[in-house]
Amino acid sequence: MTDGVLEAAAGQQSKTASADMPKGTRELAADQWWRRAVIYQVYVRSFADGNGDGIGDLAGVRSKLQYLADLGVDAIWFTPWYVSPLADGGYDVADYRAIDPAFGSLGEAEQLIAEAKALGIRTIVDVVPNHVSDQHPWFQAALAAAPGSPERARFWFRPGRGKNCDEMPNAWVSNFWGTTWTRTTNPDGTPGEWYLHLFSPEQPDLNWDHPEVRAEHEAVLRFWFDRGVAGVRIDSAALLVKDPALPEIPAEPKPGEHPNTDRDDLHVIYRGWRAVADSYPDERILVGEIWLPDIERFAKYLRPDELHTAFNFDFLGRPWNAVGLRESIDTTLIAHAPVGAPPTWVLSNHDVTRPVTRYGQEDTAFAFATKRAGTPTDLDLGRRRSRAAAMLCAALPGSLYIYQGEELGLDEVQDLPAEQRQDPMYHRSGGADPGRDGCRVPLPWAGAEPPFGFSPPAASAKPWLPQPRHWAKLTVEAEQGDPGSMLSLYRHMLRIRRSEPDLACGDLRWLPSGAEVLAFARGEDFVSVTNLSPAPIELPAEASVLLASADLAGGLLPSDATAWLRPDRPQTEDRLLRFPTVGGEC
Ligand code: NOJ
Ligand code: CA
Repeated sequence: MTDGVLEAAAGQQSKTASADMPKGTRELAADQWWRRAVIYQVYVRSFADGNGDGIGDLAGVRSKLQYLADLGVDAIWFTPWYVSPLADGGYDVADYRAIDPAFGSLGEAEQLIAEAKALGIRTIVDVVPNHVSDQHPWFQAALAAAPGSPERARFWFRPGRGKNCDEMPNAWVSNFWGTTWTRTTNPDGTPGEWYLHLFSPEQPDLNWDHPEVRAEHEAVLRFWFDRGVAGVRIDSAALLVKDPALPEIPAEPKPGEHPNTDRDDLHVIYRGWRAVADSYPDERILVGEIWLPDIERFAKYLRPDELHTAFNFDFLGRPWNAVGLRESIDTTLIAHAPVGAPPTWVLSNHDVTRPVTRYGQEDTAFAFATKRAGTPTDLDLGRRRSRAAAMLCAALPGSLYIYQGEELGLDEVQDLPAEQRQDPMYHRSGGADPGRDGCRVPLPWAGAEPPFGFSPPAASAKPWLPQPRHWAKLTVEAEQGDPGSMLSLYRHMLRIRRSEPDLACGDLRWLPSGAEVLAFARGEDFVSVTNLSPAPIELPAEASVLLASADLAGGLLPSDATAWLRPDRPQTEDRLLRFPTVGGEC
């Protein structure tokens, strides 16, 4: 136990909640909902297809809102639903104020927001400020205009280097493999300037030094806030600002001096965004997608006048190993404490290998852009660990993200036919990177055969990516009647999370245990224990079990399992539950 963690957790308290309030009254004020929210990520294309064309849409989501209410989520985050040529699954936006016709209409989005709200579910939309689609009117105008024109000033157009200007302006490497520059063609057919794209060529980077770029995005925020959305998820939030000299990337850039990542001027932008959000009477939140190895720099984005929260990818990137996970939890809590922001806990999203597969592989570590193909996978092991990980995350202080299908225990689809893969990461790497299609396969809802109720029964079109046949046992229909299923576990877990005051506001205190066991109390009356050791461990007799991710045969907690306990006595310094110290005391 480190005092730092206890103090760190205390820093998560809301302005209105305090550790010394009597039990039961230590609840967050309604306007602090985001501090402990359960947020469900909907990848619209693959959630549910209402009109039978094999592509998920808003009608499909509307038909499943009750499912999400029954699951117990507080908010839905929609990945981009705007007009897009889908060069990068919608992260190439051609019109930020209109819904892609394949998904529906703006009117339907407004209805969906209202219907979700009536069920107590808030809506979060994705904004993509770093780049636009190459079909966006601004970029089309820039291509049509001359070098040095105001239209080109909203992007990063540069002449090439070398004698014929045929060398790229710099050697930055794309997040999507390959180069970050594409050369344009002049109206007379001769080669022209180059433009910058940190991702694919269809996603030109905006120039955030340009006042119109800043004003436009604040207007887009207002557009969606005016339609009742409760928050925005900010795509690639640490990349927007570039060093205008576009220099090569130093081997070891000093903090804030990387030419395209985590530059200090970003904080000015997000203070402006926070002012927009705070201008609404009810709370509207900003959630950053920030991949940064330096957790102190990460936490700077969460200062009280900047973003409300940001995805904590450190935990997601760790192997299934108690020492590393404990360290991740500690450093996360400690880094968030000084800025008073709640951490977030994320096991998966539309960019990463599904946890059932990841945790079923020997090397379970993961980082963006390092998917592995052809690794032997034990799905049963992965499923057991995923159940344990879900309960571990749900017991930690802060908000929790669930990516669609995680609650069903879906595995990564690793054998998609090459011709059906759409992810630019796959194509730009020449197939070396399997890409992210495998975690984006349409959900199985019911029935014994594909499309498993994803499309209406009369639909002739097949789902846009093929579903594996073994998902027959992972449909919502199959799982909801099975008390041992992943879905039943998630429902039960979220019900307990919602009703336990200590899970909303209680401090986290590590309990004495072996190094391969993660045991902690939240407040005085709730304990979570995860066994990552290879052998079962005894649970303390002075506690009753609220929920377990695996059978507790003989009162033992098996390897790769989590249990939530109600201690018989309040967990104060001298009365802590103790757990077996196999593998050395912690
Ligand atoms: C992060 C998104 O999550 C990912 O799907 C996308 O490809 C990149 N940003 C670029 O927008
Ligand atoms: Ca459809």
